[in-house]
Amino acid sequence: MRIDLQFKGRHVIVFGGTTGINFGIADAFARQGADVSVVSRRRENVDNAVAALTGHGHRVAGFCADVRDFEAVGQAMAEAVAKFGAVDVMVSGAAGNFFAQARHMSANGFKAVVDIDLLGTFHVMRQAYEHLRKPGASVINITAPQSTIPMRYQSHACAAKAGVDQLTRVLALEWGLDGIRINAISPGPIDGTEGVRRLMAQSDEELAQATSMVPLKRLGTLDDIANLTLFLASPYASYISGAVIPCDGGGALESVKPVLEATGRLAEAQARKV
Ligand code: NAP
Ligand code: COA
Repeated sequence: MRIDLQFKGRHVIVFGGTTGINFGIADAFARQGADVSVVSRRRENVDNAVAALTGHGHRVAGFCADVRDFEAVGQAMAEAVAKFGAVDVMVSGAAGNFFAQARHMSANGFKAVVDIDLLGTFHVMRQAYEHLRKPGASVINITAPQSTIPMRYQSHACAAKAGVDQLTRVLALEWGLDGIRINAISPGPIDGTEGVRRLMAQSDEELAQATSMVPLKRLGTLDDIANLTLFLASPYASYISGAVIPCDGGGALESVKPVLEATGRLAEAQARKV
C-alpha cells in the first residue's frame, strides 16, 4: 500500500525548529515536500537549520524570534505567511530547562522556563490563529513527561508543561469550531538531543541506566517523534484532536524519573559548590 501524507506544497511552521527534536520534525516535513518555516532565537541556529533543510530542494525559510516576545512571534509568523501562505501545520516546541530545587531557584529562573514553555506556547498559538487554514489546520505542541509525572528539581518545567497540556485541550475545544485540530506529543528520552545530553545522561553509564528504564530498552530517535508528528498532521488523523500522546517506548508507564532526579541531584550539588 502506498501512503500519501499529502504535505506537498503545504506550509509547515516549526517554532524552536532549528535543533534537536523540532529540527527532526522540520526535516521530516521538508522530505515530504512541504514548504517549511523554522523559528528560534539564535541567528546561527536558524542559518544552520535552513542550510540543512534546503538540501532537500524544497522551499525553506528561517526567522529569528524569542517565543517570550509576543510581538516578535507575530512578526515571524507574518513574514512566514507572506512567503508561503496560510499555515497548514504548526508545531510549537521551543523549551528551556535546568535543574534546581525550588528552594534554590530564583523567581526569575522559575519565570524563565514558564515564560518559554507555557507563555511561549500561548504566544505562538495566539499569533498563529488568524493565519491557520480554516478548516484543516493541525497544531502540535511538544510537551514532556514532566507534565504529568512530578519530578524533583523540575518544578518550573513540570508546572509549565502541565500548562501546555491543558492549553492543548482547551484550545482544541475552542478552535475545533474552525476545523482546527490541536494535539500534543510527549517524547520520551530522545537520543543525541540537548534534553538527554544535558538533562539526563552526561556519561555512558547514565545513558545505559536511562535506556534500561524504558520498557522497549532503547532511547527514542528523531524519526520516532517526527513520524508521529507527520501522522498527527495528516488526513489519516483527521478525527484526533485534544490528545496528549506519549511517544516514549512505554517510558511513561515506568518513568525515567529516578535517572533524571539522580542527574539533577548531582547537577545541583555541583552548582552549589561554585
Ligand atoms: P533543543 O535542541 O534545545 O531545542 C530547543 C529549540 O528551541 C532550539 O531550536 C532553540 O533554538 C529553541 N528555543 C529555545 N528557547 C527559545 C526561545 N525562548 N524562543 C524561541 N526558540 C527557543 O531541545 P530538545 O531536547 O530537542 O527538546 C525539544 C522539545 O522536546 C522541547 O519542547 C522539550 O521540552 C521536548 N522534550 C525533549 C525530550 C528529549 O529527550 N530531548 C524529552 C521530552 C520532551 P535557539 O537556541 O536558537 O532559540
Ligand atoms: N540553575 C539555577 N538557575 C538558573 C540556571 C541553573 N542551571 N540556569 C539559569 N538559571 C536562572 C538564572 O540565574 C536567571 O535567574 P536570575 O536572573 O535570578 O539570576 C534565570 O534562570 C534566567 O537565566 P538566563 O540565562 O538569563 O535565561 P535565558 O533566557 O538566557 O535562558 C534557560 C533560559 C535558562 C532556560 C536556558 O537554559 C535555555 O535557553 N535553554 C534552551 C535550551 C534547552 O534548555 N533545551 C532543553 C529543552 S528540554
